[in-house]
Order: sequence, then C-alpha cells, then structure tokens
Amino acid sequence: MRVDLSPRDIHYGSLIEVNGKHGLPRDYDCAMFRVEDGSEVTMQRNAAVLLGKLLEATGGREIALVSGYRSAEEQRRIWDDSLRENGREFTKKYVAAPFHSEHQTGLAIDLGLKKGHIDFIRPKFPYDGVCGEFRRRAADFGFVERYPKGKEDITGIAHEPWHFRYVGVPHAEIMNAKGFTLEEYLLWIRKFRFGGSPLIFRRDSLRAEIFFLEAYSARIELTEPYSISGNNADGFIITQITQNREKNYEIRHT
Ligand code: DAL
Ligand code: ZN
Repeated sequence: MRVDLSPRDIHYGSLIEVNGKHGLPRDYDCAMFRVEDGSEVTMQRNAAVLLGKLLEATGGREIALVSGYRSAEEQRRIWDDSLRENGREFTKKYVAAPFHSEHQTGLAIDLGLKKGHIDFIRPKFPYDGVCGEFRRRAADFGFVERYPKGKEDITGIAHEPWHFRYVGVPHAEIMNAKGFTLEEYLLWIRKFRFGGSPLIFRRDSLRAEIFFLEAYSARIELTEPYSISGNNADGFIITQITQNREKNYEIRHT
C-alpha cells in the first residue's frame, strides 16, 4: 500500500530520539492511555498496553509506576523544583529540560520497587528480584533501560536504573544484543538505506526488515504489516514485518 510521510511525522513514533540535542516540537501532541495497574499513569497506547502485559508477566504487583507521561508544564515544574531543592549539577544529571524529556512523549516510564519511601526523581529499581525479572523480560515487550551506566556521555543523563523507554519489538532486542543506547542504535541503522540492504531480524515466527529513509517527506510503497517511526531529526525508520519460515534466531546485516 502507498504511505505518505509528512515533515510532521518525523516527530512521532516509538523510535524518536529525544534528548538534550533533539527536542520535541512545541505543538507535540499524542493521545495518552491509562496503564492498567490502578494508578493514574498514562502513556501512548502501545507502550501502555505492553507495559501492562510486561508487569503481568513478571509479577509486577511489587512494582510502582512512579511517572509516565508528563506535560511540558509538569516537566518544567519538576525541573524548577529540582533546581531549587537539589541544585543545577544534580538537576542536569537526572532531569531533562522541558521539550527534551522522553516523559513528554508518553513513551517513558519510571518504576520503583514498592518498599518504604519511593523517591520521585530517583526511585529504587534494583537489578535483582522482581525488578531483575522485569529487566530480563522488558525487551520482549519492546522496552529498554534507557540510561545505562557507562553511557552517560552518549545519553547526556546519569545512570538511571528506573527509567525505561518503549521502542517497540524487535528494536529493543536488537539494541540489547548490540549493547546500544537509542542514540547509538539510531546512528547505526542509518546505513540500512531504504531501497538497499536491510537489517534483518528473525526470531520464532517473526521476521523483520529494518530500513532508514533520510527524508522530510516521502511517498513509499509498503506491504502490510509494517511500522514506521520518525527519528525526530531527519528521517524515518521503516520496519517491514513478515513470517519467519526458517525458524532460527538471527540479526543479520552486511
Ligand atoms: N529523568 C529523565 C532524564 C527525564 O527527566 O526525562
Ligand atoms: Zn524517567
């Protein structure tokens, strides 16, 4: 089917890069949905649904949803409060400026272990127990730990064991297999140009071909099912889904 991509679409989709370098447009607007855990936390639809399933699969009743979608005003208030209470150095490490926070996209979630006091900016989310189980399964549901230790210079944010980002399947699994942050992954997949050789992922019944299209607008032909995301800068990531008939696991690229 024919797909029309407009310059606005560059800022939407599960793979958008939002950080100190890449901000959201002032008129960014997405529908949000409640995550089904009894809290008020909202996220974009796929992120909300899959987070609910991931929590269910990992005994998530011991895990609190601390913060999901935040409006620009909420992010500004958190930034201002932290500046006042914690100072500039701490705030720049742990709080993104308004329009530069993934929380404003509705694709990010901060999680905390339900045990004693839960800190809003730095909730405890350890690497063992139920939180460890959540981490092990997260990529199967399209989530990655977004700010890992050792990658602070790349993400621009300190190690945040509690902050997870929905990027979708199979991107989360490829990022983990390669040890890539979202910044590194988006840079790498630029070489799989649409019309050329794709990045191929195969597991179980899923086969995905992943391409990058550098364009602000385009009219392309795709076969369903597929997914498209902007990169929030200068192009689109196209994921063409087919059936995996060979059944073995593979991440292939040339
Ligand atoms: N804590 C992350 C960086 C945020 O404020 O978006
Ligand atoms: Zn967060």
